[in-house]
Amino acid sequence: MKDFENVNSVIERVLLTEEQIRDKVTEIGARISDEYKGREPLMLCILSGSFMFASDLMRAITIPVGISFIYASSYGDASVSSGEVDIRTGKGGLDVSGRDVIIVEDIVDTGRTLTAVKKYLEDKGAKSVEICTFLDKPERRVFPLDVKYMCFDIPNEFVVGYGLDYAYKYRQLPFVGVLKPEIYTK
Ligand code: PRP
Repeated sequence: MKDFENVNSVIERVLLTEEQIRDKVTEIGARISDEYKGREPLMLCILSGSFMFASDLMRAITIPVGISFIYASSYGDASVSSGEVDIRTGKGGLDVSGRDVIIVEDIVDTGRTLTAVKKYLEDKGAKSVEICTFLDKPERRVFPLDVKYMCFDIPNEFVVGYGLDYAYKYRQLPFVGVLKPEIYTK
């Protein structure tokens, strides 16, 4: 493990190594390249957590692909969702009409965020909308979702790194680690 400041005092154990992540993202990129051959999909990345995954995934895709970003959050700096999904686009809005959209997300938990984002994109006239998530916690699902691409199915533990945060911290870790419970329960 790289010598990130204080990492050993906050991370209980490494769940996914850099190498495991690299191999899986390469595999998912190849699948998307194959399954979208002849089309030019739009990667619609959900800020903030998906930025690292999106960046690696895009480099693993070998067909023409676009990228755009929206902000969607229901957690803020809390560990329990507020129940409301706040969706925001950049200036000028987002034109997805007639596009094959692949939503790129870092983690699907209850499914609340992506249910709201999917509806938002369908209402805006997207031709197709599929979901590509780095992590999935299926046992936490409340809102049923069809997740087409998923890198890792993980247990219900608080994980950080590779874009995922706790209170805006630890996103820069190149691996996924389980946060020590005393960090988020204190
Ligand atoms: C996280 C994550 C997903 C959402 C998943 O976002 O990035 O968007 O929670 O949870 P759900 O399936 O229960 O909706 P968060 O609100 O923490 O924002 P962030 O990506 O900026 O950290």
